[in-house]
Amino acid sequence: MPVTSVSASNSPRNVVVGVAGGIAAYKACHIVRAFKEAGDNVRVVPTESALKFVGQATFEALSGNPVSTTVFDAVDSVQHVKVGQDADLIVIAPATADLMARVAAGRGDDLLAATLLVATCPVVVAPAMHTEMWFNPATVENVEKLRRRGITVIEPAHGRLTGKDTGPGRLPDPEQIVDLANAVHAGARLPRDLEGKKVLITAGGTHEHIDPVRFIGNSSSGRQGFALGEIAAQRGADVTIVAGSTAQLSTPAGAEIVSVVSTQEMFDAVQERASDSDFIVMAAAVADFTPASQATSKLKKGSDSDEDALSTIKLVENPDILATTVHRRNSGELANNPIIVGFAAETGDQDTSALEYAQKKLVKKGCDLLMCNEVGKGKVFGQRHNEGWILDANGGVVEVEHGNKIEVAAQIWDAAVAFRKA
Ligand code: CTP
Repeated sequence: MPVTSVSASNSPRNVVVGVAGGIAAYKACHIVRAFKEAGDNVRVVPTESALKFVGQATFEALSGNPVSTTVFDAVDSVQHVKVGQDADLIVIAPATADLMARVAAGRGDDLLAATLLVATCPVVVAPAMHTEMWFNPATVENVEKLRRRGITVIEPAHGRLTGKDTGPGRLPDPEQIVDLANAVHAGARLPRDLEGKKVLITAGGTHEHIDPVRFIGNSSSGRQGFALGEIAAQRGADVTIVAGSTAQLSTPAGAEIVSVVSTQEMFDAVQERASDSDFIVMAAAVADFTPASQATSKLKKGSDSDEDALSTIKLVENPDILATTVHRRNSGELANNPIIVGFAAETGDQDTSALEYAQKKLVKKGCDLLMCNEVGKGKVFGQRHNEGWILDANGGVVEVEHGNKIEVAAQIWDAAVAFRKA
């Protein structure tokens, strides 16, 4: 599915940010701000109890629009219908168990519920509550009802809740919610088609140490790998990310992060978990070579032997994680016979395009799918956007238009799930 980014759209979108009464209501301020900064026209519709956590004036100042909670304000403009009719995207963050129950029951007893009864645009609901409430059968049933009706209910993050308890129920970071909502608005689907599936992802860059303070590395941020983890988690998968060096990124809902430094460590972590996995996606930027020896203490200028070691670093080849995993799968060693997805960061040259190099790489590595992106000149590494092609082992090529890495991740999962079915 073609993906457009918010910034690529010409006319401002009407975005409604619904806010229910929970401690996490303060995070809605960052969400409102993010949409405003992207050029959207934002209307905040809180519940009465949300205003006990964040004041009306704050939402009005941040959104630049009036704020009301009841259908009896501005009756002359029929706003209980108008706000929903005009909306291009509705994001509810946080959504409480009570709000979801009211929406599931089809009630229209305040402006937010009435707006949802009218709206036909994409609706993204980000719940936040205590773990017990999230797992309560009533809430589980209500979430299922909303999902069946085409509403995207985001999985809550795991972690510290209000009070001393931890578990699933935290509101994800505002940036995660905004990225997911934009992806849904751009046409990304979040079906629950990875429920019960184990997904293993490599992300970030590896560091190959020369001595305790120096290393050979690269500028990968890990954003694409974490975006793949985010979408897989939202589609119901049990996600493990083997992460090298990354930017400060939010952990996808419920994902386990296994931190590694070198390619060898990443290799070991992947091989240990490969057998259990149904999908393995290698989005990491892996160093192909590593120093033949690593000094145990810092190499010093002024010492002849240290200067020799620093000026001529002998390198040896690292194991190929992707090729080895494919080989093990093809030899029947991996119990769940995973679908394996590789990445190719290519620049192309005067004789061969980036896409042609990727086609050769897919054959050489033997993986099922390969996401190819052109890198260099500030493209892709460390950026929030990506583009390229998804190639498959049957010769298929799907163009991935420029979009945020969450949107691209959704397309990669569409391709991986379709490949597994085929
Ligand atoms: N990869 C890997 N192990 C390595 C090198 C690469 O698993 N030692 C994976 C990467 O995570 C990626 C894919 O292989 O999914 C392609 O990586 P890339 O660096 O483009 O491939 P190379 O085999 O290193 O080829 P090139 O000579 O073009 O660098």
